[in-house]
Amino acid sequence: MKRIAVFTSGGDAPGMNACIRAVVRGALYHGVEVYGIRRGYSGMIAGDIFQMNSHSVSNIIQRGGTILKSARSKDFLTSEGRRKAYDQLIGHGIEGLVAIGGNGTFTGALTFFEEFGLPTVGAPGTIDNDLYGTDYTIGFDTAVNTALDAIDRIRDTAGSHDRVFLIEVMGRDAGYIAVQAAIGGGAEMVMVPEVLTPISEVVDTLKEGWKRSKSSSIVIVAEGDDEGSAIQIGEKIKNLIDSEDLDLRVTTLGHIQRGGAPSAYDRILASRLGLGALEGLLAGQKNVMAGIINNELVYTAFEDTIRLPKPINDDLLRMVRILST
Ligand code: F6P
Repeated sequence: MKRIAVFTSGGDAPGMNACIRAVVRGALYHGVEVYGIRRGYSGMIAGDIFQMNSHSVSNIIQRGGTILKSARSKDFLTSEGRRKAYDQLIGHGIEGLVAIGGNGTFTGALTFFEEFGLPTVGAPGTIDNDLYGTDYTIGFDTAVNTALDAIDRIRDTAGSHDRVFLIEVMGRDAGYIAVQAAIGGGAEMVMVPEVLTPISEVVDTLKEGWKRSKSSSIVIVAEGDDEGSAIQIGEKIKNLIDSEDLDLRVTTLGHIQRGGAPSAYDRILASRLGLGALEGLLAGQKNVMAGIINNELVYTAFEDTIRLPKPINDDLLRMVRILST
């Protein structure tokens, strides 16, 4: 392979830049020309493709976001859009792709390969950590740390005012950020999409806490929880606790979890996965995602990363309950 391209797609994640850097520097090390595609599949269709060199990725390992920008392309969902993207890539002499993104990114890459046979190797870039085939995804650790920083601050004010706080964290349909933030932030409870926690259980836990003279409580709510958003859950709790003593507030952390400098862990993970994806591609791998499982680099078929569930470790959920008593 003489020329490859790299792009980021879907929601950005801290560490994507470190990953791009590893792909670019790795390609140059192996004597392969490397191109960048801006705005993921949208830029592929538009032909926003440019050659990168070592300097293109200088001073970016510490930066959040993605220098290649990111997008969720509707046009790439159509066969006409994918045809345009293919023509652009062929026009630039691109023989293989490294895709940094999540589920949607890899689904697109798989369809693209089935239609045109252009090989892609993926690196898992999403704060949600919802991809089978890697213990952690790029950006997850930083997002958890950002959430923790916010939770620590909220805990201060919750304690001062004897309040209950519901804090909503991101994660789409997965509860990974929520569980780790709950453990690290010493939360009283966590609500995740993977395990239904009825509102009545939340109410009971809060009441038990009050009996034990707990004056403030923090409940972490994953955005995809079946009981609804943290705001909706807050209303339901208020309807069930008929007491003037209940002083409840809701904070939705939102996109601050996607920004900021990547943690040391994410920089190293992203570097390993970027180089791993690149070297996999050069070795003839296709339609696989590079991942790290038990500290070993592994490749998992896109079909599996997309299709197979990645269950939350029950021990972690149990731990939240035990440690909050
Ligand atoms: O997948 C990353 C993520 O931040 C999810 O946690 C969240 O549900 C979603 O993206 C938000 O997407 P957008 O930035 O398009 O609002």
